[in-house]
Amino acid sequence: MSSTILQNALHPIPVAVRGKGINITIIDPETGLERELIDANSGAAVSSVGHGDEEIKEAMRKAVDNLIYTFPIVAGNTASEKLGKFILDQAPGAFASALFTGSGSESVENAMKIMRKYHIENGEPQRVKFICRRQAYHGYTLGTLAISDNNKKVGMDEITLPKEQCPRVSQVYPYRNRKDGETLDQYSARLVQELDDTFKAAGPDTVIGFIAETVTGSTFGCQVPPPGYLDGCRDVCHKYGALFYLDEVMSGCGRMGSFHGWSRYMTGPGPDIQTNGKTLGAGYVTIAAVLIGNRIMDLFKAKKTVIQGAQTYHAHSFNCEVALAVQQKVKRDNLIGNIDTVGKYIGEKLRELQNETPFIGEVRGDGGFWGVEFVKDKATKEPFSPETKFGYKFMTKLFQKGCYSLTLDGTIDGVNGDHTILSPAFTITKEEVDTIVRLMGETLKELESEVEY
Ligand SMILES: Cc1ncc(COP(=O)(O)O)c(C=O)c1O
Repeated sequence: MSSTILQNALHPIPVAVRGKGINITIIDPETGLERELIDANSGAAVSSVGHGDEEIKEAMRKAVDNLIYTFPIVAGNTASEKLGKFILDQAPGAFASALFTGSGSESVENAMKIMRKYHIENGEPQRVKFICRRQAYHGYTLGTLAISDNNKKVGMDEITLPKEQCPRVSQVYPYRNRKDGETLDQYSARLVQELDDTFKAAGPDTVIGFIAETVTGSTFGCQVPPPGYLDGCRDVCHKYGALFYLDEVMSGCGRMGSFHGWSRYMTGPGPDIQTNGKTLGAGYVTIAAVLIGNRIMDLFKAKKTVIQGAQTYHAHSFNCEVALAVQQKVKRDNLIGNIDTVGKYIGEKLRELQNETPFIGEVRGDGGFWGVEFVKDKATKEPFSPETKFGYKFMTKLFQKGCYSLTLDGTIDGVNGDHTILSPAFTITKEEVDTIVRLMGETLKELESEVEY
């Protein structure tokens, strides 16, 4: 079947026809027949309540009846107010307001503008730089690409913010970047010092803020921050009058086994500003958020700031009402608790698999977010050459066996390395984990006779 949809028209992919729980039914592009697929990644870490949830579908029908479109600067709606309150109530005092957008990228763009606005209102318009990290992903719009760093932005640097405005610090990557004999605490302190040095080199009073994914997502797979790292980064930002921004589009709203990812890894206050997406609407609606902390809101209130540039579909009532239904269900059924418990089991099973195969160098992650880094040689950590296309072979074979797991290359530096990610719906059971890990094991076993190592 030929496609009119841009990406599918260029590279044929299956068409999904329905879904239930962690499974989806697709039409196989080769046979034209329906087949079942385990969605071990819940799309791109999106689904929390699972596919085809009847309760959410019912909530969607009600949201249609309640739907009232307004231009957000002219009139608000009760659904967005209720969703905002629900989210702020999950961490009392951490955030003072919310902005609801249509996608993660759009939220990151808005967060960048809100941060810039903060400094303009604060009488520091010379602050124009965003410090960001290597091997990071924050979206695919031009602003977000400027602060991202991965192999998806080839050819785009020329039309985004100049590099000098986006100085980069090292990603958290203890598997490869911790020095011999260095403890995790020492490694963490070294990274915080690097951030401090980067502020000094950039000119501290020219920096808007520092941006990081709480837990690194797709670019190199589910790296949690070491002890003290996020607290240390926040303190460096504040020392220089800059803002601390955590992007939790992939790692927030329950994904890490707590509502906010950072609450697991920080001891003091959280970020000044944060973005969420994905599991917020769980794939039922296109919604993402910017959560704005007191430091920013207090200034905006004092200055009677007007946020210019409301977008047509900000705070859309249908999206907000459905997202609220998703979040209420997640809370009522303790699905975050479930993904935390079953997530630990995912980690255990993957580590068992690591002992059985020559190809898993590291298993990393937490909650419902697990990354597996593939290597050619476990002892030396040597990756497969990019020409081997190990990750692609793994993903294709696993797919043929009836399981989808997001698998990417460029893990180490944008060119070398391969990894796969497991980020299932929060409803997943241990039996389903067993099936996924068994299929991964069978796939890796077959690859032993198909690749040189
Ligand atoms: C950390 C992070 N930020 C932003 C985005 C962009 O979100 P979206 O694809 O909804 O625009 C993503 C998407 O994967 C992400 O992982």
